[in-house]
Amino acid sequence: MLTRIKDLAAKLAPRLIEIRRHIHSHPELSGQEYQTAAFVAGVLSSSGLRVQEGVGKTGVVGEVKGSTQDEHFLAIRTDMDALPIQECSGLDYASKVEGVMHACGHDVHTTVGLGTAMILAQIAEELGGNVRFLFQPAEEIAQGAHWMINDGVMQNVSAILGVHVFPSIPAGSIGVRYGALTAAADDLEILIFGESGHGARPHEAVDAIWIAAQVVTALQQAISRTQNPLRPVVLSIGKINGGRAANVIADKVQLLGTVRSLHPETRTQLPNWIERIVANVCHSYGAGYQVNYHQGVPGVNNDYALTQLFQSAGEQAWSSDRVQVLPESSLGAEDFSLYLEHVPGAMFRLGVGYPDRIINHPLHHPEFEVDESAIITGVVTMAYAAYQYFQRK
Ligand code: NI
Repeated sequence: MLTRIKDLAAKLAPRLIEIRRHIHSHPELSGQEYQTAAFVAGVLSSSGLRVQEGVGKTGVVGEVKGSTQDEHFLAIRTDMDALPIQECSGLDYASKVEGVMHACGHDVHTTVGLGTAMILAQIAEELGGNVRFLFQPAEEIAQGAHWMINDGVMQNVSAILGVHVFPSIPAGSIGVRYGALTAAADDLEILIFGESGHGARPHEAVDAIWIAAQVVTALQQAISRTQNPLRPVVLSIGKINGGRAANVIADKVQLLGTVRSLHPETRTQLPNWIERIVANVCHSYGAGYQVNYHQGVPGVNNDYALTQLFQSAGEQAWSSDRVQVLPESSLGAEDFSLYLEHVPGAMFRLGVGYPDRIINHPLHHPEFEVDESAIITGVVTMAYAAYQYFQRK
């Protein structure tokens, strides 16, 4: 079966490159994936899948029925949205949309999903189970998985597989990670209330900017002294608003940030931990405060057996030196984790770096590029892993 899958993939290669370039040239922002969804639905139905559009707003679902009485599905999820970035790659199939770019490789993910669907549709009679393909919108704003789940895509699903491109792994290789793959990502807003006054008479005012500076410093220092260094927490304040004029003491400052953590127990204590530090600094200098902690997506925790499925699919399809077992998690976030609240699942990292380049630009970079030979690596890995999933059951 592996040879058959590889042959089918090789035959599909030119078409898949064409598909990927089409999607790459026509990127759409999160929640606005109308053309992409229509295009995906077209490819799926012409490949013989049962297709449903408008699932999770702009998402698409396609199903391959295997030769089984079982009503359960293995889900394969890929995401379709692009980023508000002006592409500077200089490629002849670069984005045709001003200020929007597939800089996170979701064009590749969608193509891998489509290629896998085309192959599994062709081997459906030998497939020991059913596969549901989830083409998800709005991953970049961590909404799409919610929308899809609310529309019932997890009904009768017993496990879920996913993929994300990775520029620091060369094309032709994949990365697998047992356990924590990505971090929980929460949003933080801190408001500091001082008292306005003349810039020349600080003793008559409560300087919210000075206190905000101490809050930022105190939080960073407290991480190093009060958080377990083996359980990483990253807190980044990315935006500060406050003040009116150079000679007026600010009465109010807003700090906006992101909080990343890998361990669920650490995550649950973070809101109180932050509030205590903010409260102490503000009380010291007579300022008021408010902390708004909003839980975003949890971390992706890869299932052991499904990670092994990817590892063995990759090793059998090529060789073991083309499968990297990744020693570290990422503190990036992925809303794939929301599906994992329902069923076990795993994502693998698809190498897309040019092997002969010293620098491959990172994800979300305006010059981000992928070595397109990775598409076939992704499709074969995903299709063979899906086939093996039913063989093992
Ligand atoms: Ni992404």
